[in-house]
Amino acid sequence: MIFKGSSFDLKSFMYPGQIEKIDKSGRSFAIGICRGDDYLCLLEMYLHFSPRPASQGLPPEDPQVCQSWLKNLLEIGINLLARRGDRVIGHAALIPDPNGKSGEFVIFVDQNNRNLGIGTELTRLTLERSKQLGFESVWLTVPPTNFIAVKLYKKFGFEYLDSDPYERVMTVRLRSLIPAEI
Ligand SMILES: CC(C)(COP(=O)(O)OP(=O)(O)OC[C@H]1O[C@@H](n2cnc3c(N)ncnc32)[C@H](O)[C@@H]1OP(=O)(O)O)[C@@H](O)C(=O)NCCC(=O)NCCS
Repeated sequence: MIFKGSSFDLKSFMYPGQIEKIDKSGRSFAIGICRGDDYLCLLEMYLHFSPRPASQGLPPEDPQVCQSWLKNLLEIGINLLARRGDRVIGHAALIPDPNGKSGEFVIFVDQNNRNLGIGTELTRLTLERSKQLGFESVWLTVPPTNFIAVKLYKKFGFEYLDSDPYERVMTVRLRSLIPAEI
């Protein structure tokens, strides 16, 4: 068990199939759970990610640090991917808190696939899975100037928890979300 004192058991998480979606340009993409053998495709997305870092120092600019960061995320988080063909175009993760009831959300969409609804579908699936796994809330930090990210989070009911002008904490309670909202 990775998180001491956590009630969350990663092994109990099943791998469902991919879900096919259509983006705002009319092209199809798939979202689903990240598997161990997705690491190299995902790393490929991050090594070509622009800008790097994009937000709050992530993804790390240094390739070695980026690899370590990604390996750690895959080890400790619940990871979901968006794919087009054999390429990964987006990644979202929930990093469980030690209490097993809440977790931190992070999301990154490839620069050539932004503003197409990919982030929306990754967020929806992550919140859905988190709720299914018994998490009560999801939180994140975001600079208030990251307008696209803030717009995305607010769509799913995330609300500001503090008033730090540089990096704000947002949270959403999953129990209050009805299926149509996630
Ligand atoms: C933030 C990010 C994950 C969003 O992913 P995405 O696939 O582009 O998001 P979507 O297309 O699903 O949704 C973007 C929303 O922002 C809106 N938007 C676009 N430009 C905007 C702007 N300048 N101001 C406000 N909203 C804007 C879009 O209209 C869309 O809302 P809608 O679906 O209601 O129309 C992506 O931009 C990204 O990876 N950015 C770099 C990394 C990052 O900042 N990650 C977040 C860490 S805190």
